[in-house]
Amino acid sequence: MAFSFITLPLNPTKKLAVMSQFEPSTSPVRNRNSVRPNLVVRPIHPDDATDIYAIISDPKVAVGADWIPVKEYLQIKEWAANPNTEQHRLVAEMNGTVVGVGWLIQKSRPRINHIGQTELIVRPDHWGQRIGTSLAIAILDLADKWLNLKRVEASVVSNNARAIRMLQNLGFDVEGTRRASLYGDGQWQDENLLARLRGFEKRSDSSEATELVKQDGPFEKLAIENRYLSVRPIQPDDVSALYDIFRRPEVCRTTLQLPSQEIGLTEDRVFNPPAGIHRLVAVVDEQIVGTISLKQRQNPRRSHSAGLGMMVHPNYWGQGIGTCLMESILDLADNWLNLKRIDLDVNVDNSAGIRLYKKFGFVVEGSKRYHIYGDGRWTDSYFMARLK
Ligand SMILES: CC(C)(COP(=O)(O)OP(=O)(O)OC[C@H]1O[C@@H](n2cnc3c(N)ncnc32)[C@H](O)[C@@H]1OP(=O)(O)O)[C@@H](O)C(=O)NCCC(=O)NCCS
Repeated sequence: MAFSFITLPLNPTKKLAVMSQFEPSTSPVRNRNSVRPNLVVRPIHPDDATDIYAIISDPKVAVGADWIPVKEYLQIKEWAANPNTEQHRLVAEMNGTVVGVGWLIQKSRPRINHIGQTELIVRPDHWGQRIGTSLAIAILDLADKWLNLKRVEASVVSNNARAIRMLQNLGFDVEGTRRASLYGDGQWQDENLLARLRGFEKRSDSSEATELVKQDGPFEKLAIENRYLSVRPIQPDDVSALYDIFRRPEVCRTTLQLPSQEIGLTEDRVFNPPAGIHRLVAVVDEQIVGTISLKQRQNPRRSHSAGLGMMVHPNYWGQGIGTCLMESILDLADNWLNLKRIDLDVNVDNSAGIRLYKKFGFVVEGSKRYHIYGDGRWTDSYFMARLK
């Protein structure tokens, strides 16, 4: 596929008929001189940067999105000019001017690469003319017919009734509300997570988890009673002990890890930490038995928040190691980083994890249906958060 052109007649009174022509194009991508009575949805072109800059720097747009309205033009120019294989970017053009932009980002990690995340933005003076709907239809067409995605997600500021309604009309359901996940225009903002499923049974919610996650078989339980437990930051020579935890099938089942992963991945994680990450390990008599990480978001409108992940070696489950790691990381979050919000995703059948998180004040904000594939089945995840 070279280019995808989707032409949509702009008629607010009629339901849109979508014509998609996924064929190599022989005509130029853009001709500024031609008069276009219709709306054309097409891939982004580097020349669109100026029009897109005008849209995204409008404060009315910025407040409902997650950027600040004072982005520099050069950032947008670079973004428009640099294609990214995971990000599919389309624009809506009318009479030679870009009046809307939307994108779909496919998750690249195995076990969640059936998910795409979309965002849609229309120039405020063109709101109410079904341009957002047209862009969304084109993006869903791409997700369904070309990428075979099963779950398309959109995060929308909770008071943006227009956008929520538009997505619901296209088959999205609200799965929950992330509280104070954004700061903008002088206040905390909540965001609704919406998702549209394809090829799955449609459900509005996940039932409350009651059972402990299934375990593969008996494994040795190593008691830590009377042994010395400490928590410290990760160190370079922790790689092989961490690798042993990450690829355990019992751990993979309730995380995004894979039993097939190679040690190079753990080395990469240890030696190339992403910006904003804080990682601790629990050590019993010099042996690493668990790890926890907190990743503070780098987006300025989300920098009050961080994502949390943790794992304990199965031989040591149920002995307070998770509790100890959580106490240490929350001390860091509250007393040193002054974070307002900590969040995480947890499989709905991970009873130990859910119990641990609730004990520390995390509450369920919603559930992501068919969120992860692993161990031969689909699982839903709760999204949970603790606010300070
Ligand atoms: C979730 C996990 C980190 C918990 O670690 P842990 O060291 O076993 O946790 P703790 O021993 O501190 O127990 C925490 C709470 O869970 C409870 N718990 C432990 N096992 C449980 C079980 N099988 N069912 C229900 N609750 C359980 C404990 O009783 C404790 O609650 P309490 O203090 O009210 O009694 C660990 O099970 C794990 O690594 N699982 C695999 C990876 C994973 O799921 N990570 C989290 C992904 S979101």
